[in-house]
Amino acid sequence: MYRLIRDLLFLLPPEQAHYLTLTIASLLVKIGILRRKEELNRWVEVGGMRFPNRVGIGAGLDKNGEFLEVWRSIGAGFIEVGTVTPRPQEGNPKPRLFRLTKDYAILNRMGFNNKGAEYVYRRLAEFRDKGYDDFVVGVSIGKNKDTPNNLAHKDYEFLAEKMREVASFLVVNVSSPNTEGLRDLQAKESLKTILTSVKEKASEIPLWIKISPDEYRRVFEFLPELYQQGLFQFVVLTNTTVRKDILKHSREQAERYGRGGISGKPLFPMVLSIIKEFREKVSEEIPVVGVGGIFSCDDAKKMYQAGANLIEVFTGLVYKGNSLIEELVRCE
Ligand SMILES: Cc1cc2nc3c(=O)[nH]c(=O)nc-3n(C[C@H](O)[C@H](O)[C@H](O)COP(=O)(O)O)c2cc1C
Repeated sequence: MYRLIRDLLFLLPPEQAHYLTLTIASLLVKIGILRRKEELNRWVEVGGMRFPNRVGIGAGLDKNGEFLEVWRSIGAGFIEVGTVTPRPQEGNPKPRLFRLTKDYAILNRMGFNNKGAEYVYRRLAEFRDKGYDDFVVGVSIGKNKDTPNNLAHKDYEFLAEKMREVASFLVVNVSSPNTEGLRDLQAKESLKTILTSVKEKASEIPLWIKISPDEYRRVFEFLPELYQQGLFQFVVLTNTTVRKDILKHSREQAERYGRGGISGKPLFPMVLSIIKEFREKVSEEIPVVGVGGIFSCDDAKKMYQAGANLIEVFTGLVYKGNSLIEELVRCE
């Protein structure tokens, strides 16, 4: 069924298809057709946090926290809303999102388009007031494009203070390839400054860090130290890659589309080996959230075997539809 709907949706530009799908899904939730199944609650405890199940929604699918009922209804256990910046921003000029269907991949250079902290705070407060206890909402935080890197910690600090009331965890995103210079914040001193600022404002909230698959090794060198200092609690592996050579069938197409991060199936082997390396060489203890190219139960099992405690999906949902969540939750 989703195959047919997908073929129709894929006739639309990707961003329109995205909003149309989620708007329709929201309606289905409102009239009670789309409802969370009780049996998808399989409570787990990871790093001192409790999750209804191990399957989450990756950052970027719901930048403004407008579709939380949908994610909960299709059975996900948690979400990273955002990435949110202090002030609203438009992101890069369109088109900035491209399907690479032959590779089951996506190229994006969205550039943190979002409605800003105040708007997202209100959406999350509304959802919190509904009183559900079976869906965990976290917020991915990032800096505004025009904030220079030496002041970036101020943006993260502001967001931590704003979101602490409505977020169950915060994710420090310093790994998107689509904000110039952002990934430089993965350097030890910059990251330490950001984490310290965030912890000062929201010490009670677990902090996650999301890493780039292109620059992970230098970060791995100092992560255990920051973890021991209590500056973060989970690591998310990984964000998108800028390496177009991982594409088997659509590399030329991707070159034509221009710069951006690649997600989806081709990212899977990369992320898997990064998680294995993390477990073998960096830490057996730090909780890992695995994300990148998960399209099936078999993929999820490989992620857990490699050492992930939780998983997240994004591109798999675009290609396979909402039934992917249920498939992944039922697969242990
Ligand atoms: C269109 C798009 C927008 C994204 N936006 C964000 C974002 O705002 N923040 C972030 O941390 N990751 C973002 N990501 C990365 C995803 O959360 C995820 O790490 C990556 O896509 C790999 O997972 P996947 O292969 O399941 O898509 C985005 C990905 C896509 C495709």
